[in-house]
Amino acid sequence: MARKYFLSYEHIHQSVRALAQKIEKSGFDPDLIVAIGTGGFIPARILKTYINRPIFTVGITYYGPDNIPAESPRTIQWIDEVEKKLAGKKVLLVDEVDDSRVTLEYCLRELLHHGPAEIAVAVLHNKRKEKKGKIPAEIHRYFAGEELDDRWICYPWDAIDITEHEKISRSGIITP
Ligand code: G4P
Ligand code: MG
Repeated sequence: MARKYFLSYEHIHQSVRALAQKIEKSGFDPDLIVAIGTGGFIPARILKTYINRPIFTVGITYYGPDNIPAESPRTIQWIDEVEKKLAGKKVLLVDEVDDSRVTLEYCLRELLHHGPAEIAVAVLHNKRKEKKGKIPAEIHRYFAGEELDDRWICYPWDAIDITEHEKISRSGIITP
């Protein structure tokens, strides 16, 4: 079996804190946060502990229930009256993982249509790999809590047995 990353809730919280510190240090002061669901929901909420801004959510899915990528990302839910909410605003777009970058590119292009002053990207984890998607040229700020190798990441919110998950994650973040 391929080696995977097993991340505990404590580890996630620390990565979000590191991410928030990078954002603050850069001087970027967002008006609002947009979380890409579902993976970005919990990171965005933890981020709000450090950067207290309203959170809007968008639902986009790329992988189906069997974890096989679909042809292109699909929008499940979008922001109501999105022009009113985003026009002229500094937006911090949050997701858990930058993997192929396809979902991120799709979401950034959609958000850019609504006239924000600026959009910055914040991901908990960036996988070091060749990316299929591109960050649009309009985006000048990109923050990652952690850079990881290209392995599958097991997030605690996906665990069926959280006690077992936390136990595995305590014996090292990469499985033997
Ligand atoms: P990207 O733009 O952010 O790189 O994402 P990409 O399109 O490559 O695919 C995103 C989908 O793949 C997301 O699921 C994301 O959660 C999942 N994914 C990619 N790598 C990993 C990983 O290492 N571990 C886990 N657990 N998930 C991974 P989705 O079905 O689009 O939505 P959701 O799961 O956020 O609801
Ligand atoms: Mg996601």
